[in-house]
Amino acid sequence: MAESKDDLYHHELKTLLKFSTLINSSLKIETVLDNAMNCAEEFINAEASTIYEKDEEKGDLFIRLARGEKKEPIKNIRVKLGEGIAGHVVKTGTPMVINDVKKEKRFSNRLDLLIGFKTRSLVCVPLFIRGKAMGAIQVLNKKSGENFNEQDIEILTSLSQLIAVAIENARLYERLEHDYELTNQDLKSARERLIRTERAAAMGQLVNSVAHEIRNPIMVIGGFARRLKTRFMHDPDAYNYTEIILGETARLERLVKQVGRLAEVQGADLKKGSITTVIDRILKAFKTTAEKQGVIIRLSVDKALPVIDLDESQIYTALSNIFENALESMINGGELSLTVKSLENHVIIEVTDTGTGIEDEEIATLYDPFVTSKKTGAGLGLTMVQQIVMNHCGEIKVSSRKNEGTDIEIRLPVN
Ligand SMILES: Nc1ncnc2c1ncn2[C@@H]1O[C@H](COP(=O)(O)OP(=O)(O)OP(=O)(O)O)[C@@H](O)[C@H]1O
Ligand SMILES: [Mg+2]
Repeated sequence: MAESKDDLYHHELKTLLKFSTLINSSLKIETVLDNAMNCAEEFINAEASTIYEKDEEKGDLFIRLARGEKKEPIKNIRVKLGEGIAGHVVKTGTPMVINDVKKEKRFSNRLDLLIGFKTRSLVCVPLFIRGKAMGAIQVLNKKSGENFNEQDIEILTSLSQLIAVAIENARLYERLEHDYELTNQDLKSARERLIRTERAAAMGQLVNSVAHEIRNPIMVIGGFARRLKTRFMHDPDAYNYTEIILGETARLERLVKQVGRLAEVQGADLKKGSITTVIDRILKAFKTTAEKQGVIIRLSVDKALPVIDLDESQIYTALSNIFENALESMINGGELSLTVKSLENHVIIEVTDTGTGIEDEEIATLYDPFVTSKKTGAGLGLTMVQQIVMNHCGEIKVSSRKNEGTDIEIRLPVN
């Protein structure tokens, strides 16, 4: 019995309602589309259906969903914009109904041959996302063998709007998930950085108070050892022992002085200043040592660097520590590059060397006081550098590969 117009509207409305419920039933796009197209096929009484989506980067179409018995082989097929029926529909943004594909020259049986399907008739409507045709829905062969009619186009057009929303939602959700993952990673590394910085600062303070306490006893020991030395002129063994005591106390005095320097940089006197002036001073100070060691210095400094709030003498201290380390790692020559540029409201200072490099597992403790691989080093250089960078509300990052070299990047905020 033929359906009345009222019955048809009722049926259409029910399909749309069912459809919009399905669209919101899951955030997994494949599930949503599969359910939705199942519903469309049922309404139109069709044998199979396909959803094409535009790949914005590549500019062509790919098959987002293929429903029907032999859908899998065509999932990887790509269609150029303007090619075939779907390509034409997306390019022009207008639907197409073909009731006999043999009479349509745009129709290509490439996919039919691939999967052993026989398309007789089809209806294809564009999918609009924010006013742009971003894909197409194609429904194939009415099971009854009848022609596709106006009603079928109407319902597919309505469905296409809901599908477009579902695709857009899924894309937003995917982007959200991706951003969430990135934010999580950022937070994790910021927390690790904070813990490291705080630990180094706490250790610095402890070291400073110990140094303060031992300064006087060292001077007393040194003073008396010097007096004893004059008395042991004729006792070579005792003379040697006092020499050792004096050597060691001198070493301790140096250490206490270095710790004192670390204490001096606990706070900073920030004024509007120029990084370029500091760079010039550093280059002058290290030129001769670099030449003697056969180290070539390469320089790249942006011409228009912004004026920033800085403590010039502290930045000088930080850069000389970094330069010292770099040169000490290139005893047999190499290359030291200094790049200074402004980027995203920051001044970036990057020092790269081609020296001995640092083992991965050593990088995490590099800023801790007394971490050193050198016989005469105090292991306070980078502790001081980190403190200075912190005083400027900046960030420091060390990346290194053993036997290849080290890269130290300091980011100082402009404001
Ligand atoms: N550019 C670099 N190349 C290779 N290793 C480095 C470099 N910079 C730092 N290091 C490693 O990090 C350690 C710590 O450096 P830091 O400057 O804090 O102390 P130090 O140079 O050993 O002693 P100090 O600077 O107090 O005289 C060094 O001993 C070295 O092993
Ligand atoms: Mg050092």
